[in-house]
Amino acid sequence: MSQHTPDPAPLVPPGRITYGSYLCIPDLLSLQREVSAPPHADELLFITSHQVYELWFKQLLHELRHVCRWLDADRPLRAAQLFERIHAVQHLLIEQIPLLETMFAVSFNQFRENLRPASGFQSVQFRVLEFLSGAKNARMIALVGDDPEAKAEMERALGAPTVYDHFLRHLARIGLAVPDAILRRDTSQPHEQHEGVVSALVELYERSDELYPQFRVAEHLLQYEERFAIWRFHHVKMVERMIGTKVGTGGSSGAKYLASTLAIRFFPDLLAVRDRLSTGYA
Ligand code: HEM
Repeated sequence: MSQHTPDPAPLVPPGRITYGSYLCIPDLLSLQREVSAPPHADELLFITSHQVYELWFKQLLHELRHVCRWLDADRPLRAAQLFERIHAVQHLLIEQIPLLETMFAVSFNQFRENLRPASGFQSVQFRVLEFLSGAKNARMIALVGDDPEAKAEMERALGAPTVYDHFLRHLARIGLAVPDAILRRDTSQPHEQHEGVVSALVELYERSDELYPQFRVAEHLLQYEERFAIWRFHHVKMVERMIGTKVGTGGSSGAKYLASTLAIRFFPDLLAVRDRLSTGYA
């Protein structure tokens, strides 16, 4: 074939899978539906960004549920391996914010009113992710609006054990002294810092050579919490520059409300361990 003749397009036998059919590309590309009239040039970026976030939230939920399964199977190294992937996704979530910040506030405010009362407040997957991570808050369910299926999904997630519950149950099975009351706790409530659990974790950290797989999971949990908080912080800074102190389209106080969520801790015991670690060489 001459250098200038393009390769012929591969022939796809009828009925065979193609890139477009496998990945549902026509469906995917039909889902970015701008609502602004007249159309606004920046709305596509706004929609695409949110949709991409939702896809990554789906992936995070999938991976976290597998982390729980590996912990239930007492295979902490497999759980640790999945956390590497989870952190990489979280990195993407954080790094995507500057992309949206290429939109000027003056632009966003031109089409923002068209979105009211829709809001990130209503992201079901974000809330399920928070619940699975430990930030249980039943009041968040009402925010989703009139959507019985979404509410049912959130209620299931509210009641289910968190990834940390799965971790503590695994630690109990390998012989660490996790208090019974914690193993049987009401998992629809947030886990509060507990001295008995902190003591069990101090033992884990002090025996970290011997219990290295479990120690790695503990550190991965903390890393997960840290990246989640970095996303929250970056989101609130973006919100400040986009809407200043205006209220949110979802009805909250906006940046002020979001700043208050920076105090959320998924795994308070893991931070408390730091205060109890002995100093100097053993
Ligand atoms: C111009 C960009 C954005 C602005 C101005 C903005 C603004 C806000 C505001 C004001 C809130 C508070 C709730 C309310 O009253 O509406 C909020 C919540 C939220 N936003 Fe955004 N947002 C933006 C981009 C994004 C993106 C790209 C995502 C990705 C999914 C996102 C996800 C969320 C989530 C999950 C919440 C609930 C947070 C919580 O309750 O802790 N936002 N946003």
